[in-house]
Amino acid sequence: MASSGAMVLAMMGLLAALVCPAAAAATEFISMPTDNVGDHSYGVHATVCPNLENIVRDKVADARRNDISVVAGLLRIFFHDCFPNGCDASLLLEPSHLYSSEQDLPQNKGLHEGALQLIQRIRDAVREAKCTDVSCADITMLATRDALMMSGAPRYDVHLGRKDSKRPASFAEVGRFLPARDAKIRDLIQVFDSRGFNKGDLVALSGAHTIGKATCPSLEFRTGEPAWFVKAIKENCPRSGDKKHILDVTTPDVFDNKYYGNLLVGLGVLGTDMELLQHQETRFFVENWAKDEHLGWFHGHFAAAMKKMADLPVDPNGEYRDNCFRPKLVRNLTADGFVASA
Ligand code: HEM
Repeated sequence: MASSGAMVLAMMGLLAALVCPAAAAATEFISMPTDNVGDHSYGVHATVCPNLENIVRDKVADARRNDISVVAGLLRIFFHDCFPNGCDASLLLEPSHLYSSEQDLPQNKGLHEGALQLIQRIRDAVREAKCTDVSCADITMLATRDALMMSGAPRYDVHLGRKDSKRPASFAEVGRFLPARDAKIRDLIQVFDSRGFNKGDLVALSGAHTIGKATCPSLEFRTGEPAWFVKAIKENCPRSGDKKHILDVTTPDVFDNKYYGNLLVGLGVLGTDMELLQHQETRFFVENWAKDEHLGWFHGHFAAAMKKMADLPVDPNGEYRDNCFRPKLVRNLTADGFVASA
């Protein structure tokens, strides 16, 4: 039964939504700490690993102080792991001679090495604190949430208790659900819709590009207007070499709404970002969030969509990996990445 506190909050949310529709999105991420999604709940590690959240926060803060790009690195890893088949750290499994890795897919090229290493460092610290039953998937989720908060994003609660996958996901499955770099707006809408995310979710989550960088080949698909800008970013970012280009040309490291303002004046760096203007409904969100000075609507919708992504269903037959990059029983994997029958 809902507690009286929960009911008061729900009533407040309803009232706020009636007075101000923008607040409806913002209230979505007010959640009670007793909620459950399948086997996952908010307080699941409270007894087995009471210090977990402090360990994650401290390690993330240290890493961010040394290299701010780790924040965007974590966020992209989170998206690419969770979106195709739920958050199970299957993306983290490194290529090996026994099986192929999701990291080999074109969409997964250029994952942030420092962010990958940070996830493993946190896993090691968690094990040193005698917490064995904590997955790399939960660690990735918490680390991403905390890193984002440190860069100005809102706090949102995440369900924990996931296990790590025992094998990489099927290539075909992952490839189908990760948007291509040359996707058009109808492709983006379709791929998000196929995972249960609406057009508002698509625009809110694309707001992730308010931080981070792209490798120069990713700029190839940015064509059109304004010609001076397209020419300038390409000249600044040759296809060869390992140079990168910031995604938000106004405030590259802050989780604000400048990304949307940039799109409206033609200063979007990726072709797929500019595509958000090509559909009436997605353009509606870009226009509104560009002028959402207090960030409540954008941040509320972003937080709710991140929670939704975190709660995508996963295969329950997982394990707790010590090494986030290898399944525990590699010998059971066949060459195509599937577990051989005993
Ligand atoms: C809407 C479809 C999307 C497309 C087509 C797309 C595409 C891309 C591309 C091409 C890059 C540059 C990769 C490289 O060259 O290294 C990139 C970077 C990035 N993407 Fe997306 N993305 C999309 C949605 C998202 C979402 C939903 C998130 C997270 C919620 C996200 C987070 C990021 C981040 C943080 C970076 C920068 C990574 C870094 O600096 O290390 N993207 N994205």
